Amino acid sequence: MKLELGEKQLAWATKTLEQTAKKLEQVSRGSAHKIPYTTVNGVHDDKSGKRDSWWTNGFWGGMMWQLYTLTGDPFYRTVAEENEKKLDTNLMDYDKMDHDNGFKWLPTAVANYRKTGNRQSRNRGLLAAGQLAGRYNCAGHFIRAWNDWDDNGRDHRGWAIIDCMMNLPLLYWASEETGDPRFRQIAVHHADTAQRCFVRGDGSVRHIVEFDPDTGEMVRDYGGQGYEEGSSWTRGQTWGLYGFTLSFLHTGDRAYLETAERIANYFIANIPESGLIPVDFRQPEDVTWEDSTAAAIAACGLIELAKLHEGRQQKLYLDAALKLLRALADQRLNWDENEDNLLTKCTGAYHDKEHEFSIIYGDYYFLEALMKLTGQELFIW
Ligand code: GLY
Repeated sequence: MKLELGEKQLAWATKTLEQTAKKLEQVSRGSAHKIPYTTVNGVHDDKSGKRDSWWTNGFWGGMMWQLYTLTGDPFYRTVAEENEKKLDTNLMDYDKMDHDNGFKWLPTAVANYRKTGNRQSRNRGLLAAGQLAGRYNCAGHFIRAWNDWDDNGRDHRGWAIIDCMMNLPLLYWASEETGDPRFRQIAVHHADTAQRCFVRGDGSVRHIVEFDPDTGEMVRDYGGQGYEEGSSWTRGQTWGLYGFTLSFLHTGDRAYLETAERIANYFIANIPESGLIPVDFRQPEDVTWEDSTAAAIAACGLIELAKLHEGRQQKLYLDAALKLLRALADQRLNWDENEDNLLTKCTGAYHDKEHEFSIIYGDYYFLEALMKLTGQELFIW
């Protein structure tokens, strides 16, 4: 359905996108040869080289493809292509491949192929999809998340995480592209498992679920990057919200839409008055740590849900998305053009030593949300 934005809402989105694109024009020239993750003293760091496999390494390219779509300036395309090529060392390094192929190769190689028809990019996307499909566990019907053992010596062979819902679109794309249904079948099996094992009755979602890798039985769940087992890590809620929406868009299965809406309703009911999102909806009351990335990702998912409805329900999702985006723009946006980040107060994980810094995917989803609102988005997922 068409998004029924009010005149003032559209004017706000248009102006905020213009301001964002203006800042990014300068930032992207300074960071053209980097793959940024965060900023140090206002300057982008660089994950190129030894850290080519870091899971966020597709988002800078994704920002460049969105800006290329917005402006037509070939500079952005060149920067995106450089980012994409740098990921080839990761594609050739089995031990450093995990389930995050969607995050890495959808905003880079697949975006490139969709925009330009580049066959090398198609090749990269299909190799990444094949490897992701190869992580499927046939007993438990889930895609394995990580490799190795964690710091506590725990075996990850049976671990799946809610974030993977955002990697499934790489599999949907591979089936659409090749006509081979196997990729989609695996994505659907994983989404069904996630629907059954991750989403709680109240619409909140678990971060990590452990299965027995041999029998496929669910063993237990973990709080993961959130506060604790049974808590509600906000970014995890958004991966579920946006991810199930995308599975609906790719399959037409209304069960996924209903699941996405249950998560969305839970999320909306928990948005604080300020519109600023904590790291975990169930963190202790005296902890004030925020995660602006969760606000930006939730906004993207809510806008997609809004597009699937008319009238009051569209307004519910759209108003919630705008509340989140306005709170970010007014209070958590670094508009200083001499510093490289957009969002402030982003957090990787509740139990990390550092909290509330800039993170590239927060910036990516903020830009994507504005592109969606103004009807100019390159659809990445
Ligand atoms: N996908 C990992 C995270 O959201 O931190």
